[in-house]
Amino acid sequence: MDFGVKEVVLTEVGTRDGFQSEKKIVSTNDKIMLINDLVKAGFQRIEFSSFVSPKAIPQLADAAEVIKGVDRNNDVKFTALVPNLRGAIRALECQIDEIVVFLSASESHNQKNLNRSIHESLTGFEEVVKLANDNNIPVHGDISTAFGCPFEGNVQYKKLVEISKQYKALGFKGVTLGDTTGMATPPIVKAAIREIQDNIPDLDITLHFHNTRGVGLANVLIGLNEGIYLYESCFGGIGGCPFAPDATGNICSEDLVYMMNEMNIKTGININHLIKIAKKAEKILEYKLPGQVMHAGERLKKYSLEDVKTAKGN
Ligand code: COA
Ligand code: ZN
Repeated sequence: MDFGVKEVVLTEVGTRDGFQSEKKIVSTNDKIMLINDLVKAGFQRIEFSSFVSPKAIPQLADAAEVIKGVDRNNDVKFTALVPNLRGAIRALECQIDEIVVFLSASESHNQKNLNRSIHESLTGFEEVVKLANDNNIPVHGDISTAFGCPFEGNVQYKKLVEISKQYKALGFKGVTLGDTTGMATPPIVKAAIREIQDNIPDLDITLHFHNTRGVGLANVLIGLNEGIYLYESCFGGIGGCPFAPDATGNICSEDLVYMMNEMNIKTGININHLIKIAKKAEKILEYKLPGQVMHAGERLKKYSLEDVKTAKGN
């Protein structure tokens, strides 16, 4: 089995996408502890928080305190979501490594999430880019609801191309296609990737899936088959957008690393360390997280015969 990709780069988004929709506001210290652990587990990219309005996402109001408390490591890129100039100023004050601006492929979700039109978002990004360029900080662009919108249904591939072209014109090297409410399916993923690659061949594509309908990892296989090596995932499989109905968890980092290990695709991430992080997060959040490998263990985990009763009932 050869999917063409031998090595992937994963961005862990647990303390951002993961915690933004949790009822419990996770303490700053716990966030810092988890991020330091993620660095030790081997992540090269960590989307640690968002510099958004604390009224919109109170769970992430401590973004500045979090990054100031983290042991910065030059080999790890710390990125954060930024919706506007105010967010960019806050992010730059903390010397983050990359700004991630975001908008939605659908007008309805952009209005719900950002209180403005797609055009207004794009116009606003110009001042973010100018400030980032003046400070030599790269900017990356996300497209939420890229594979379907919970209010409008299917998203036209040409809309993804149109926004990606504008991102390219703003100087971005890459685009993340975000499946905010888990509406992506293998044929949609394949067609979206091809449409962007055919029209803008030199733009890196990152895939950000949610496992809302159980096909998250199947979508990753399609991505690998199309040569995509950049993915985003979340420890414990938590996550979701508070401004989209029925949004549920991201694809789970441990499950993803487990699959990559079994496929001999390098991630640079220690799965045992990652499972421990997911278990710590489970303890912090106080409910059973949806991740599967964190509970089942790896495939060759050996059980004792005594652990299971026989069919005779003894
Ligand atoms: N950081 C901190 N505060 C911010 C901010 C930022 N980046 N942007 C705006 N604010 C503050 C303003 O100062 C203002 O505060 P005030 O009421 O005390 O005066 C308030 O937020 C509203 O500002 P306004 O510019 O009118 O924004 P808005 O109400 O139209 O909201 C966004 C627009 C983009 C700021 C808001 O919708 C948002 O942060 N959305 C993020 C959504 C998100 O992260 N979704 C999950 C990821 S997909
Ligand atoms: Zn997401």
